[in-house]
Amino acid sequence: MSASAEMPYFIRPSVNLPEGEKIAAYEAAVQAIAANLEGETDPILKMATINCLLKTYLPYYYWVGFYLVRDGRLSVGPYQGTLGCLHIAFGRGVCGRAAQERRTQLVPDVHALAQGSEHIACDPNSQSEIVVPVFDASGHLIAVFDVDSSLPGSFDEIDQQFLVGVMGVAFGR
Ligand code: SME
Repeated sequence: MSASAEMPYFIRPSVNLPEGEKIAAYEAAVQAIAANLEGETDPILKMATINCLLKTYLPYYYWVGFYLVRDGRLSVGPYQGTLGCLHIAFGRGVCGRAAQERRTQLVPDVHALAQGSEHIACDPNSQSEIVVPVFDASGHLIAVFDVDSSLPGSFDEIDQQFLVGVMGVAFGR
């Protein structure tokens, strides 16, 4: 299944990056995040800023945002992109699986997953995604960080390595 919907005027289709450019873009984004978050302690401000800066530097970020752990389920937090689902149960979809297993999920083709159970299609333009669990300094799961691309195969171990690092520095210390 690969349905599509018209993108709103403020959203652009994803552009994938070759490995070298991807690493350079992450290095620049990480620097900008560190500079802008210096001394900041409010997690919501950090989440909003991380979304903005990663989406600015990485052109295949179609939807980027956090789902917060609230009352035993995931509820949408700061994000940039088309309308996201409001609540996701643990174990449901890619975000719910990342929360339940507390492990990064790399999905090169979301349409290969069972729709509604293994993947929740908030926007039919999403084709690949990565979801990284976010822990606080005590090791408690506080959120998951979700990035969707409108192209297949946008995410790999490079994304995983940089994003795990960003989340650890921003929320784990
Ligand atoms: N793709 C997610 C749902 C959230 S949206 O993409 C914003 C999932 O299946 O977990």
